Amino acid sequence: MSGTIVVTGTDTDVGKTVFAAALAVALGARYWKPVQAGLADGSDAGSVVELGVDPAKVVPEAYRLNTPCSPHRAAEIDGVTIDPARLALPGDGPLVVEGAGGVLVPLTRAWSFGDQAAAWGQPVVLVARTALGTINHSLLSIEALRARGVPLLGVAFIGDAVEDSEAVIAEIGKVRRLGRLPRLADLNAVTLAAAFAAHFDVEDFR
Ligand SMILES: Nc1ncnc2c1ncn2[C@@H]1O[C@H](COP(=O)(O)OP(=O)(O)OP(=O)(O)O)[C@@H](O)[C@H]1O
Ligand SMILES: [Mg+2]
Repeated sequence: MSGTIVVTGTDTDVGKTVFAAALAVALGARYWKPVQAGLADGSDAGSVVELGVDPAKVVPEAYRLNTPCSPHRAAEIDGVTIDPARLALPGDGPLVVEGAGGVLVPLTRAWSFGDQAAAWGQPVVLVARTALGTINHSLLSIEALRARGVPLLGVAFIGDAVEDSEAVIAEIGKVRRLGRLPRLADLNAVTLAAAFAAHFDVEDFR
């Protein structure tokens, strides 16, 4: 499907939702979190609206699971099985898809998010911290994506600048550095759009 970008990360809580919201706004794209695990503290679809995504551009989740844990387990607890056939990309036009957790997170006991990304075959952005530990987590994620034949657009960093870590991931991982979103003390739709415009080139994602 043309104009789809899949956002994954090196970990849960790394900043995928914040980055995906900024990207969707910059591209005028729809946003889709196909599998949401954990509903009590709000959903990522709700968060992106707070960060500036037009609610009309939020595609409803395919699975809304109650428990904040790995999707395979959250589904089991709710008595459902995630069926990859229900994860077909919705409609035409620009779309930003946010994955659950990281690349090897299981959607079922036999199907990971990385397997799903390979099935979609659309360009993937890996969101990574700049903080200590990121080199290992980023390179592992890159290997796991490549092992599945997933097209990797590049890495989007989140956090304070750590030039050597960002450079060495790009060099060893043979991957493009798309930019770095700084930690925003006051995170809102206005500050996020400005930070994205200052630190990324939207044309890299078209
Ligand atoms: N650039 C940023 N500036 C300030 N706060 C940020 C930034 N990026 C992420 N955060 C905060 O860090 C936390 C985790 O970010 P986020 O929800 O985007 O992670 P995630 O990778 O989408 O997590 P999940 O795996 O649950 O989907 C949130 O509280 C978010 O507001
Ligand atoms: Mg998220």
